[in-house]
Amino acid sequence: MALLTAEWRRLHAARRKRLMEMVGTEAIVVLAAAPERVRSRDTLYPYRQDSNFLYLTGFLEPDAVLALVPGRRYGEVILFCRERDREREGWDGPRLGPERAGAALGVDDAYPISDIDDILPGLMEGRARAYYPLGLDAGFDLKLIGWVNRMRGRGDGRAPQEFLQLGHLLDEMRLFKTEPELRLMQRAVDITIDAHRAAMGAAVRAPRGELHEYVLQAEVEREFRRNDAQPAYASIVGAGANACILHYGANASRVRAGELVLIDAGAEYRGYAADITRTFPANGRFTREQRALHDLVCAAQDAALAQARPGAAFAAMHEAAVRTLSEGLLRLGLLKGRLEDVVAGETCKRFYPHKTGHWLGLDVHDVGEYRIDGASRLLEPGMVFTVEPGLYVPADAAEVPAKWRGIGIRIEDDVLVTRGGHRVLSAALERRAEEIEALMARV
Ligand code: GLY
Ligand code: MN
Ligand code: MN
Repeated sequence: MALLTAEWRRLHAARRKRLMEMVGTEAIVVLAAAPERVRSRDTLYPYRQDSNFLYLTGFLEPDAVLALVPGRRYGEVILFCRERDREREGWDGPRLGPERAGAALGVDDAYPISDIDDILPGLMEGRARAYYPLGLDAGFDLKLIGWVNRMRGRGDGRAPQEFLQLGHLLDEMRLFKTEPELRLMQRAVDITIDAHRAAMGAAVRAPRGELHEYVLQAEVEREFRRNDAQPAYASIVGAGANACILHYGANASRVRAGELVLIDAGAEYRGYAADITRTFPANGRFTREQRALHDLVCAAQDAALAQARPGAAFAAMHEAAVRTLSEGLLRLGLLKGRLEDVVAGETCKRFYPHKTGHWLGLDVHDVGEYRIDGASRLLEPGMVFTVEPGLYVPADAAEVPAKWRGIGIRIEDDVLVTRGGHRVLSAALERRAEEIEALMARV
C-alpha cells in the first residue's frame, strides 16, 4: 500500500509542487507505476515500485498512474489506482483504493485505474506539453499514444503537441538528498555494515573446507531481512579469482583456505540503497601479496576521498584513484614504464577496468548527470555517491609473477558531500587490512 508518515506525505507533496512549478501550467506530467513482471509461468518477480513514482508518491502498489496537472482548478494531483476488491485482496494483500488515497497520499483526487481511458485524455486536453518517461514501459507508451490519437482523431486540436522526457527534471531533484532521505540512507548503510560483519564472522568460524560463497550471501541477506530490508541489487560474493569477475553473481563456489572473499552487497531500506564492498581473507589473515594489493586499494580510496568536497570535479576522485593505483602497481612490479605514461595511457585499466564511483539513492546507480556541457560535474552538498576503487589480477595474467594472479579486491564506501567536505556514511565498517584482521580475530 503506502508507507506514509505525515512528514513523508509533506515531502512527496513538496516534490510534486516543485516539479509542477518547473513544468508550468501549459504542461501535464504522466507517470505510471512499475508493471509487475513474470518470473516464470504464473510466478512474478518480487514487486519493486518505479523509483520516480516512489519519489513522488510513496505509493507501493502496481497498476497505478499519477497525473500532475498544474493550475487545474479542480485539483492538480490525480492518482489512478486499483479498486478495493475483497476477493483479490484475499489472494494478494490489501489495496489502498481510490477512496482512501486522498488522505493516505495527499493527492487531490483518485479514480479507479479501470476508468483511466475515460478520464486521462480529458486531463491532457488543452495542455501543450506532456512530460512522460518515454520508452520506459512499452505497454504504457502504446496506451498514451492511443489516447493522443483518439484526441487528435476527434479533430479538436487540443491534444499535447510536444512529448518531453520527464527524466531530466526528476533526475536533478533526486540527485540532491534531503535530511529525511539521508536518515533512510544511513539506516540502509547501517544494516549493510552489520551484514558485512556477519559474513566476515561466519567465514572465520566456518569449519575448514566447508564454506561456500552462498553461505556468506545467506549471512548478508539474513541481516537485511531481519532489519526489514532487502538486497538493493544482486549480492556479489566472490572467493579467489571469482572476485575478478565484476558482476559475479553465481555465488556458488567453495571458498578455499587462504583465499580472499569479495562481498559487494547493499541493503535497500524504504526504497533507498546502500552499496558497500569489503574484501577479506576467508581465514582472517591476509597473505603478503593480498595485503600489498589491499593496502594499495585502500590508499587509492583515501586519495579519491581527499578530493570529495564541494566545488571539486566528480572526475577528480577517479583521477586520484588511478594515479595512486598506477604508482603502486609500478612499485610492486605489476606494471612497467614511467608513471606519467602509465597514467596518460590508462595502463592500469588492465587491472582496474571500472570507474571509481556513481551516484547513490533510490537506485543503486542513481540518476543525475556526471558531466555538464562536456565537463565533469562539480560536487555540491547533498550529493551521495560511492567511492569504490579495486584491483583485479586475472588468474591467467601471464605477464605478472604468479604470486599476484587471481587476486581481486574492491573497497566501496558510501559518501555524502557536506558543506565543509564529505561524510563517509559507511565509515564505521572495518576497512583497512589490520581492522579487518582484528575484527575477524574477535568474532
Ligand atoms: N554493486 C554495484 C556497484 O558497485 O556499482
Ligand atoms: Mn557501486
Ligand atoms: Mn557495489
